Amino acid sequence: MFTTRSPETTLDPVVDHPRITVLGVGYLGATHAVCMAALGFDVLGVDVDQEKIDELTSGHVPFFEPGLQEQLSEMLHAGRLAFTTDFDQAVRFGDVHFICVGTPQSIDSNAADLTFVERAFEALASRAHRKALLVGKSTVPIGTAERLTAMVTARAPIGDALELAWNPEFLREGFAVDDTLHPDRLVFGVASGWAERQLRAVYAPILRRGTPLVVADLATAELVKVAANSFLATKISYINAMAEVCEATGADVDVLAEALSYDERIGGRFLKPGLGFGGGCLPKDLRAFAHRAEELGVGRAVAFLHEIDDINTRRRLRFVDLVRDLAGGDLQGARVAALGAAFKPNSDDVRDAPALDVARMLALEGAIVVVYDPEANENAHRTYPDLDYAGSLREAVTDADVVALLTEWEEFGRADPDEIGALVNRRRIVDGRHALDAVAYREAGWTFRALGQPAGAGHVAPYEAEPVT
Ligand code: UGA
Repeated sequence: MFTTRSPETTLDPVVDHPRITVLGVGYLGATHAVCMAALGFDVLGVDVDQEKIDELTSGHVPFFEPGLQEQLSEMLHAGRLAFTTDFDQAVRFGDVHFICVGTPQSIDSNAADLTFVERAFEALASRAHRKALLVGKSTVPIGTAERLTAMVTARAPIGDALELAWNPEFLREGFAVDDTLHPDRLVFGVASGWAERQLRAVYAPILRRGTPLVVADLATAELVKVAANSFLATKISYINAMAEVCEATGADVDVLAEALSYDERIGGRFLKPGLGFGGGCLPKDLRAFAHRAEELGVGRAVAFLHEIDDINTRRRLRFVDLVRDLAGGDLQGARVAALGAAFKPNSDDVRDAPALDVARMLALEGAIVVVYDPEANENAHRTYPDLDYAGSLREAVTDADVVALLTEWEEFGRADPDEIGALVNRRRIVDGRHALDAVAYREAGWTFRALGQPAGAGHVAPYEAEPVT
């Protein structure tokens, strides 16, 4: 279905089994380095952060990602993976350099901060004395690769023999290893046939399985990534906008989402209503995309992304309203168990996490908030040291006036409503992720509320709300 660009724009030989470096061994880079080694390549991970390099060298993944720890140990043991802070060594070693450094939101605007990307390309270019391919994986504004190509060519002692490509990454936290080893598609943004062939050699083990490949120009490859994340964010905000309508009409957003999902053109994925999206990618990518589109004079084309962001933020405010209602109209002094801090389950990432933001807002209104997350307590504590943190679910809910389910960890879904009911001060719960069995909770005597659901939705026995004091 997709065309491949013409291969013969350069005659340079392709390195069949290239040696790979990965610059920036944070979340994306560490996973990529480990997975490239798992595919059979010799890989060198590079970072300016000595502590991170030491941890990875000693076989420890500095963040929570299921399956990565085991793969890292295996690859270190196999001798195919090493880590360093030495850029000279990296340039000598690598035939293909993947740049995986972060592009966070700028402090003073919605634009992406490209400082780390520029530094990484500059560090490689200034040392390059032989032909190599620099492959950007970081999410960047459209036009960045073209600008970097000019910089690299001017800066590199070997000039335009140092080529640049863009190869966006679509992995999800919590599924990072599997998404990297078994991607649903690969996208190569290239400016020459040689760059395409070199990337094909890198991804040969994955391409052999018939994984779809889209070969594109640099700008399209950059755009694919932000367009994909914006689309996913739009889908989530769409169902959350419907939740707002449900709240005004007494309709039930879960039933609505289910009915929509059977239409294959719509599908059920990313149609889960609740507290909305967070994390280190969707929110900042959406904003950076809108910002870049405005710079390019096409701001109107994606003006709706501002609304997507607003809908997402409103869910958090509405959730606080529900908790306040259940606390009797005033949060001052109310004890709230905040179940979850990570932006999603199976992650310890609290960047732009709706859960932690809600906990903060509740505390600002005077609630005594006790946070418990199976993996993210430490990161959450670093971000908001003033909240209270519990070491277990039982400890968090003990004496709670309201329980707030903020991240849908399996542990919370498995909890027995009677057992935790025996620990709380009052059986009142708000399910921010539509992850709990409302019927079971109501049968156990809980007042159960969820965003976009009428107060009694999902119950079988006649529902009697507890009088709010
Ligand atoms: C996202 C994309 O899904 C990846 O494809 C992309 O590679 C990655 O960003 C990135 O740019 O690096 P990730 O941030 O790991 O991945 O998380 P998602 O699984 O997309 O979830 C994002 C947020 O949306 C979470 O807060 C989640 O709770 C929320 N969400 C997701 C919903 O509220 N409803 C849904 O139906 C699905």
